[in-house]
Amino acid sequence: MRLDKLLAELTGMTRSQARDVIVNGRVCVNGDVKKLTAEKVNEESDVLTLDGETLTFRKFVYYMLNKPAGTVSATQDRAARTVLSLLSAEDRKKRNLFPVGRLDKDTEGLLFLTDDGMLSHRLLSPRKHADKLYFAKLERKITEEDIAAFAAGIKLDEDLTAMPAVLRRLTNEELRDFLPEDGAAAAVTLQEGKFHQVKRMFAATGNEVLYLKRMAMGGVLLDKTLLPGEYRELTKDELITLENCVTEK
Ligand code: URA
Repeated sequence: MRLDKLLAELTGMTRSQARDVIVNGRVCVNGDVKKLTAEKVNEESDVLTLDGETLTFRKFVYYMLNKPAGTVSATQDRAARTVLSLLSAEDRKKRNLFPVGRLDKDTEGLLFLTDDGMLSHRLLSPRKHADKLYFAKLERKITEEDIAAFAAGIKLDEDLTAMPAVLRRLTNEELRDFLPEDGAAAAVTLQEGKFHQVKRMFAATGNEVLYLKRMAMGGVLLDKTLLPGEYRELTKDELITLENCVTEK
């Protein structure tokens, strides 16, 4: 395999970033500096270092995406743009990536993309209680009764009652970012992910969600610098936060 390709795979760098660090003499193969990006290396046996640190093969990759409205949380779709189509061609073909759970087509915000099926499964299991935080623009302001109803568990239909959820007003700082114009908004934290759950919970209180954005999941916050449609790899600390969130306590 080419050195720049292996370096990109091991570190999550783009090919051009990998080429830069190679040309700058920061990469060694078996102890020797290699400055040729097309150098042939053996991914099974050669030891690569970057700035003196040994690189080990990454079993899985993890991205956070700021999902834009109009995209579907699927790997394939006949009619609509999928969240995977937002990745660069290089990142898309690297692994068998899929979204961790679903956001509605018109919902924006935090969506993880990974090839780690086990972590995904654990994050989505209601038994693991991974918190999901949503900000919603609403038709009307929330009341103390709404907060109590969310805390008690909203009845979604005849046979289904949602687990208790925390409904609250936004802080002034949150409002400045999320709803600078006039209107009503609220934050809701829940641990389930049933179909249209947040919209149905507000609908059950006689309210309507006009816009919905996921701000956090499993203790990891959506990076505020990501514009809709942009993504980046999770940091080590974010991954540890997710792991801790789904590990049996
Ligand atoms: N709840 C909803 O209603 N929609 C989403 O996309 C996510 C949670």
